[in-house]
Amino acid sequence: QKDAALAAIADAASLEALDEQRVAALGKKGWVSLALKTLGQMSPEQRQEAAPAIQAVRAEIASAIEAKKAALEAAELESQLASETLDLTLPAPVRPQGSVHPVSQVMDELAEIFADLGFAVATGPEIEDDWHNFTALNMDESHPARAMHDTFYFPDAVPDGGQPASSSEALGQKKMLLRTHTSPVQIRSMKEQGAPIRLIAPGRVYRSDSDATHTPMFHQVEGLVVDRDIHLGHLKWTLETFFKAFFEREDITLRLRPSYFPFTEPSVEVDVGYSNEGNRRVVGGHGDAEGHDWMELGGSGMVNRRVLEMAGVDPDEYQGFAFGLGIDRIAMLKYGMNDLRAFFDGDPRWLSHYGFGA
Ligand code: PHE
Repeated sequence: QKDAALAAIADAASLEALDEQRVAALGKKGWVSLALKTLGQMSPEQRQEAAPAIQAVRAEIASAIEAKKAALEAAELESQLASETLDLTLPAPVRPQGSVHPVSQVMDELAEIFADLGFAVATGPEIEDDWHNFTALNMDESHPARAMHDTFYFPDAVPDGGQPASSSEALGQKKMLLRTHTSPVQIRSMKEQGAPIRLIAPGRVYRSDSDATHTPMFHQVEGLVVDRDIHLGHLKWTLETFFKAFFEREDITLRLRPSYFPFTEPSVEVDVGYSNEGNRRVVGGHGDAEGHDWMELGGSGMVNRRVLEMAGVDPDEYQGFAFGLGIDRIAMLKYGMNDLRAFFDGDPRWLSHYGFGA
């Protein structure tokens, strides 16, 4: 019986067939188990004589089953590997490729051009406090210019009725908001580094406003130069030099319009001339000429001496200029786009139309 069992084990073609053999021999009613049970009825002498032989058979069968089991499992793995091989010579599936967003692209270009002019890049928090966003920029709590900023305040800063805190509310200078411009970075940088200073601060800003040229989140780049004997001529030269490099053409017309910002004095708004060519806006030419127009790119001016004081810089020793330009506006002009909102829709067809996506 043992030889027959060993042969059947060797012949088992599958793990299931092998298990049948195991049950037939070693299972509860298997012949080896039954043989072992007979030992119980024997006298001690008989048992001593018979037991070793039965135990040896049991061990032999068990080890044969173990060996066969290992062999069958190895064979199964082998065939699995053979059927699941990868053909490494096949071309890989083509996946859509990400790309740099036009706004990020413009920010990189900006930083590069200003780096050549000796400007470092500074950053500040998008969740800002009232003092840095307004008060230190010469807009105290009753300043009317605050109302023009359509500020997103954080809930604990908004009293009943949902209106932003007014001057009468003694909420202090610590109420939090989403910064409405990059100008608070001026304050933070001057407080940290003192003067002289020369930096740009690109980043996201927020205002509760939305149409073809306004989105609730948009991008600005702040510029700040503080040194001895700085004057408006330095500002004009810096902006012109930057725009010529950025738009890669010499015939840029900038228009500096007298304006008002609480944190600069005098203040000028910066417009650039463009023409409509087909459906595209192209920078260049004179804004007042036939078929041309001006696009407002941002504000600028000489840093108000009160701002220098509040940021810890001596206004009798240092002067400065600052500007804040709309990055998205500049990008629209550079790439001839008409609707600002498309920048933030994330539509890959739109991005690739402008040469940015796959
Ligand atoms: N912070 C102003 C704005 O967002 C722009 C500005 C910056 C004006 C720096 C003057 C100087 O409208």
